[in-house]
Amino acid sequence: ESLFVGVDLGGTAIKVGLCNAAGNLLRMHEGPTQAAEGADAVLTNIAAYVQELVPPGTTEWDAVEGVGIGIAGFLNIPEGIIDFTPNLPFKDVPVKRIMEEKLGKLVKINNDANVAALGEAWGGAGKGIANCVCYTLGTGVGGGIILNNRLIEGFTGMAGELGHMSIVADLEAIQCGCGKMGCLETVSSATGIIRMAKDAVERGDRTTLSLVEGELTAKDVVDAAKGGDEVAQRIVSRAAFYLGKSMATVAIVVNPQRFIIGGGVSKAGEFLFSQIREAFDKYTPENARAGVEIVAAELGNNAGVVGAAGLFLRA
Ligand code: BGC
Ligand code: NA
Ligand code: ZN
Repeated sequence: ESLFVGVDLGGTAIKVGLCNAAGNLLRMHEGPTQAAEGADAVLTNIAAYVQELVPPGTTEWDAVEGVGIGIAGFLNIPEGIIDFTPNLPFKDVPVKRIMEEKLGKLVKINNDANVAALGEAWGGAGKGIANCVCYTLGTGVGGGIILNNRLIEGFTGMAGELGHMSIVADLEAIQCGCGKMGCLETVSSATGIIRMAKDAVERGDRTTLSLVEGELTAKDVVDAAKGGDEVAQRIVSRAAFYLGKSMATVAIVVNPQRFIIGGGVSKAGEFLFSQIREAFDKYTPENARAGVEIVAAELGNNAGVVGAAGLFLRA
């Protein structure tokens, strides 16, 4: 039987999974990205985690026909090159060639959020929906656009980079990891939420949030907001507001039937979703939002891995 490996290369963790030819996930494994160690170290980590998942020399390894990698960053998809990664240390890296040499297997790459969108479309919250747009809220904000059942990659592969939609007004904008000002990612990612919380604490705002007790996470901020902390509420509302407002633009450009929101921050649940819907409704003409749903991703942590393996099966 043919087997396929899917890899989800994220800002903090690398997840790898083994799938069969039906696209079913057989097992997973993961390890830290160790982005601070540089691009070479990250690629070496990918190879190590893949080979821990499926040890070379086994019949399973021999059955692996390809390795699909979803990567958080700007890619030249047809050429197999990472052009630039806002939250990882890659610049002009021919990742397809390097990983094919390291693994001795055929490698396909695509954007991490594109791949998550494919996973959701095949077997998650987008199943049976021909037009859907996926957002992933994690270290960065990712996007994946599926129209008429096809993933939209665009001219150079930049289509659906929704986290870099410039949306915050100039006077309030800060610089994004991509170098530009006011990107959605600066306010609606986990990193953005943490930054806004740190700013508030450092400004001396009255809040239960604190920086002393270890590392502050986006979940801490969401929990504080749910618990009534007004500073935390303002931060989460801001993240939700810009997300919903960005969806208004997406709705006008591609008119999806369903928005699917995944990634760690989406675990905030209805508390977050109701505020996203409010902003979406405020800025979207009735004809672009009638019947449009905003739902949570269903595959959770596995969407990226399943979608990446699926690059060989269904793309
Ligand atoms: C990157 C995207 C990625 C997203 C989520 C963004 O900063 O530009 O390519 O999909 O983060 O990982
Ligand atoms: Na994308
Ligand atoms: Zn940006």
